[in-house]
Amino acid sequence: MSIALIITDRDLTQLSSGLKKRLPHVDIQCWPYITAPEKVTFVVAWQPPSNIWQKFPNLKVISSLGAGCDGLLSDITLPENIIITRIVDTGLAEQMAEYVLTAILLLKRRFNDYFKQQQTEQWQTLKKIKGKKVAILGIGEIGHKVAIILIACGYEVSGWSRSKKQHAMYETFYGKDQLAQTVKNADFVVSTLPLTIETKYLLDEVFFKSLKKSAWLINVGRGEVLKEDDLLTALANNNLQGAILDVFSAEPLASEHPFWQHDNIIITPHISAITDQITVIEQLAENYQLLKNNKPLKNRVDRQKGY
Ligand code: GLV
Repeated sequence: MSIALIITDRDLTQLSSGLKKRLPHVDIQCWPYITAPEKVTFVVAWQPPSNIWQKFPNLKVISSLGAGCDGLLSDITLPENIIITRIVDTGLAEQMAEYVLTAILLLKRRFNDYFKQQQTEQWQTLKKIKGKKVAILGIGEIGHKVAIILIACGYEVSGWSRSKKQHAMYETFYGKDQLAQTVKNADFVVSTLPLTIETKYLLDEVFFKSLKKSAWLINVGRGEVLKEDDLLTALANNNLQGAILDVFSAEPLASEHPFWQHDNIIITPHISAITDQITVIEQLAENYQLLKNNKPLKNRVDRQKGY
């Protein structure tokens, strides 16, 4: 039995050496140098090349290196019988909360506008944005952490989820019918939603019409939850004030994409929460050992739900 790391967008030294140390008797192979694919039972993957799974006849588990696993599930060549797991890490949730808080404070204190003023050497005081109401769409581990941090900083939070969830510290709504009600008074709407059949294009023309004109959207979940053309139309129609976007339908964002030049869109390159290679070693190693001992794995993904 061996583990393969099929992660194409970063240096894997920390993860591979950490796993080797934690599992000294297990062979760890890193893509593209997989010399014995028939031995691989456990893969850790992020943005894997397409059409590779049939190379691994004894594969049992693919663990996403991130919290999201939509990239894996959308691959039609993914065999039915393979167990999919994902990373559930408080570190990811903390990074996400930090990003969202930064985004809100930047907007409230008008750093985006002061930066524009600086470019033309303008010295002019602007009014602070007073709003403190934040609607969080997606209140799983990550969204909930964002909510807790914002509440601790004095924000009024409401949360929305696909199915009913209750949290003692903030008001919750659920289901598509309650989406408009969740966001109608929000100054900031934060999406931490995963991409699933139900969330795809949830943030569309109709959704934008239910926002306050002064509202800002912050999308840190997945790009395809947002209908990008509808956001542009909604901004042109003043349905909302602007958006801070970390995720996009196609990444990297194409150079001719209208978002780049939009005055009221701020872009970051999918950095709101990046898996820490050191902190995930323990949960990957533990799942590998559970597999070896024929025990149920942790953080297993429900393929139907998509997370
Ligand atoms: C990042 O996007 C993740 O899913 O962890």
